[in-house]
Amino acid sequence: MRAIFLNNMIVSMSMDDELLARFDDALKTKGYSTRSEAMRDLVRTFISDCDWEGEEGDSIAVITLLYGKEVKKPELMRIQHRYREISTMLHTHIDPINCLEVYVIKASSDRIKELLKEFRGLQGVKVVKFVKSACEV
Ligand code: NI
Repeated sequence: MRAIFLNNMIVSMSMDDELLARFDDALKTKGYSTRSEAMRDLVRTFISDCDWEGEEGDSIAVITLLYGKEVKKPELMRIQHRYREISTMLHTHIDPINCLEVYVIKASSDRIKELLKEFRGLQGVKVVKFVKSACEV
């Protein structure tokens, strides 16, 4: 018997065919049986990233940035220079069009969030991911 959750809301969203096909492939690979299950997981991750507030002191984050050739390099460089807290940066060319950069930054969570926001807002940026960790372990 299937459980019925009376408080569940049905949410519809628009997505182009290609992205939806890739999403379906990815969710099968990861073992999700339905799109809803995968979306709930994504939403939880998204919310927990947003909840990263009010942590005292500095945190360390590893940020990966995937971007295409349409990215405005001077703008990216301005961001990199504005965040002196970036201690390490690695650049690799993954194919003729795309570049991957990895950053290690030690800063307050607010400052790291600011940087993530700037990266996400940059034209040509395709994926921004990060792993955070408190400094005092
Ligand atoms: Ni490159």
